[in-house]
Amino acid sequence: MQPSSIDRDAVAGIRTERIDWRFKGLPATTFGATLGEVAERGLDLFADGFVGPLVVLDSAALEHNLATMARWCAQRGVRLAPHGKTTMAPQLFQRQLDLGAWGMTAANASQLRVYRAFGVARVLLANQLLDPAALRWLAAELDADPGFAFSSWVDSVRGVELMTEALRAAAPSRPVDVLVELGAPGGRTGARDRATAVAVAEAVAASPVLRLAGVAGYEGALAHDASTGALSTVDLYVSDLRALTLTLADSGHFDGLTEVIVTAGGSAYFDQVAAAIAGPWPESLPVVPVLRSGAYVTHDDGFYRGISPFGRGAGDAPFRPALRAWAQVTSRPQPDLALLTIGKRDASFDEGLPEPQLLRGKDGTVSPLTDCRVTALNDQHAFLALDRANAVEVGDWIGLGLSHPCTVFDKWQLLPVVDGTVVVDLVRTYF
Ligand SMILES: Cc1ncc(COP(=O)(O)O)c(C=O)c1O
Repeated sequence: MQPSSIDRDAVAGIRTERIDWRFKGLPATTFGATLGEVAERGLDLFADGFVGPLVVLDSAALEHNLATMARWCAQRGVRLAPHGKTTMAPQLFQRQLDLGAWGMTAANASQLRVYRAFGVARVLLANQLLDPAALRWLAAELDADPGFAFSSWVDSVRGVELMTEALRAAAPSRPVDVLVELGAPGGRTGARDRATAVAVAEAVAASPVLRLAGVAGYEGALAHDASTGALSTVDLYVSDLRALTLTLADSGHFDGLTEVIVTAGGSAYFDQVAAAIAGPWPESLPVVPVLRSGAYVTHDDGFYRGISPFGRGAGDAPFRPALRAWAQVTSRPQPDLALLTIGKRDASFDEGLPEPQLLRGKDGTVSPLTDCRVTALNDQHAFLALDRANAVEVGDWIGLGLSHPCTVFDKWQLLPVVDGTVVVDLVRTYF
C-alpha cells in the first residue's frame, strides 16, 4: 500500500498568507508581507523585533524526529498515520507524508475538514463519528473524491445504529469503512471485552452502509509511565488487540478484504505496539499494521522525555525536544522569585510545567540556567522560584522546555522555525 498524498499546492498556498497583528510575537516590520517572504528574510529572534513570549521550533530537532520515526517504522514493517492533532500544521503533515507516512489520523470532524481542505488522501478518524451533520459532509466528500480513503472507529452497537441511520439518509455511493475499537477496563473509549467487540463487528456486518475494515485501539489511555506494571498493561492490551483481530478473521469478518487495518500506538509505547501488530499474521490475513504517533514530531522536555521508547533504549537515537519558549523576566519582587511574561495562554501546563533551561542576559550571551524552577502559571505569568537571589535580572530572557506538545501548538497560530536564533521558516497551525 502506497504512502498517502496531500495537495502540495494547497500547502504551498499557506506561504501566501499575509502576516499582521493577528499573529502573536511577529515583528511589526513583517506586517503586510507573506509568510513565504518573511521565512526568507533570515530574521533573528532577538535582533529583529520579535516580541515575547515566543514559542519556536528547532529545525534540526524537528528533522531528526521526523526522519528517525519514518526510518524506524520502515525497518519494523509498520505504517505510520501520524496523529495530526498534535500540530494541526499541514506543512508538517506534508513532511510526514513525504517521508512515507501511510496516512494521517484525526480526532474529530473539524480536524478532518482541515485535512481535506489540504487534500490529505487517507485519514483514520480515531473516534466514533456519530454527528449526522458530520456524516452528511463525509458522505459528500467520499462521493466527490474516489481517491479519498477514510475509516473511523466504532465501539458500540448503538454507535453502529446511529451511523447507519445518518448515512442511509446521506446515501453515499460507497460504504464507510469502520474499525472496531477495543478498549479495556479503566481506559477511555473502546469495547471493554472481546465479546462486546465481536457484537459490534456483527452489527457492522448487518449495516448496508458500513464496511468492517479492521481493528483499532489506543494503549496510551491505559498506561502513563514506564513502570514495569504500565509496560505489562500495554503488552497485555496489544495482545488482546491481536487476539480480537484473529477472532474476527476466523469468523469471516474480513473475508474479501485486500487490506485489514490493525492500528494502535501513540508516542509512549509504540515499540511494544509495533512488536504486537507488525506480525507475523496468518498468510490469508492481509494485515496493514498502522501506528498513530503524533507527539514524536517535537517530543518534549517532560512527559515524553520520560516515557519515549527511544529514551528507554529501544533501539534508535532518542528524539530531541523541538519546542522552546522564550520569555522575559518582567518582575523580581522578592529575592527568591522572578515573574516571566509567559502563562497558560502560551505554554502547556497539563503534563508538567515549563522547564527553565537557558538564560540570555543583557549582552546576548546565553548560558545554562540552573537552581530554579517554574512553580506555577497564571494566564499570562510564570512564577520562577530561585535558589540564588542573583540568578536572573529584570529584562533577562529565559529559554524554557515544554511538556506536552499537543497543548502548546494550539496556543500558536504561527510558529517560527529556527536554526539557533535565526528564523528559517514559519509553520501555520489550524485549530
Ligand atoms: C486515539 C489516539 N491515537 C494516537 C494518539 C497519539 O499519541 P501521542 O500523542 O502519544 O503521539 C493519541 C493521543 O492522544 C490518541 O488519543
